Amino acid sequence: MKKRFIVTAFILSLLTLSACGDSSDDSSVNTNSTSDGERVQASDSRDEAADSVSQESLAEDIQADGETGSNILVAYFSMPEDGTDADAGASRVFTEDGEIQGNVEYFARIIAEQTGADLFRIETVQQYPGDHDGIINQAAEERDSGARPELATHIENLDDYDTIFIGYPIWWYDMPMAMNTFFEEYDFSGKTIVPFSSHGGSGFSGTTEDIAAYEPDANLLDGFTVSREDVPDSADNLISWVEGLDI
Ligand SMILES: Cc1cc2nc3c(=O)[nH]c(=O)nc-3n(C[C@H](O)[C@H](O)[C@H](O)COP(=O)(O)O)c2cc1C
Repeated sequence: MKKRFIVTAFILSLLTLSACGDSSDDSSVNTNSTSDGERVQASDSRDEAADSVSQESLAEDIQADGETGSNILVAYFSMPEDGTDADAGASRVFTEDGEIQGNVEYFARIIAEQTGADLFRIETVQQYPGDHDGIINQAAEERDSGARPELATHIENLDDYDTIFIGYPIWWYDMPMAMNTFFEEYDFSGKTIVPFSSHGGSGFSGTTEDIAAYEPDANLLDGFTVSREDVPDSADNLISWVEGLDI
């Protein structure tokens, strides 16, 4: 009953003002401005950039193809919003060379840059609407029905990787349902899994325990999670965290 109350309260907050944005149970980030001046929070330019959001175009250059020869993979799910609901709790997006990124994608690219890893975007066959309310509704339907959205991208060369960073946003106090499809598709036994996430106040919300349950024979390291409000200032902390990992 308590959980239902919390979920209801969260729904209301999502549908009103900048929900889950202010509070953060995340203690990992509270730092200097980003070290990468090219990454600019796009709130000002969001409206102009909104029309150019395309989930397909974001994925064009992102496939795990083993080209780098790296034994590290950064796999991530991220859903940038088109910004039309920017004042109603829409997820932050970033531009880099005119490109729009979701928060988790922003982290994924930094991690890959730092580690020389391959990048892999987890995509679903059924696309999500670009607007905030549309994503909220589709995600709620998927959660309520226990859906396992079919994935459109697949890691073909998992054997090449010893360490897999896995990133996702928190959706409805959980991983997006597509992440369940992802974990059910792969066996990461013997590999090191490093979770990272972005949220609106819920922290990891128990999702790392879910990963541990999915992958009992993997070496699951402590993860990195940041409230979306803090994402623009998190690059330094993220890099320090990556540098301190035993991988
Ligand atoms: C459908 C949906 C549900 C969400 N549910 C939660 C939630 O339960 N708890 C929370 O802290 N944040 C929640 N958020 C906020 C996202 O976790 C946050 O905006 C995150 O930074 C999005 O990352 P992305 O831009 O990479 O997709 C939700 C966002 C969406 C779109």
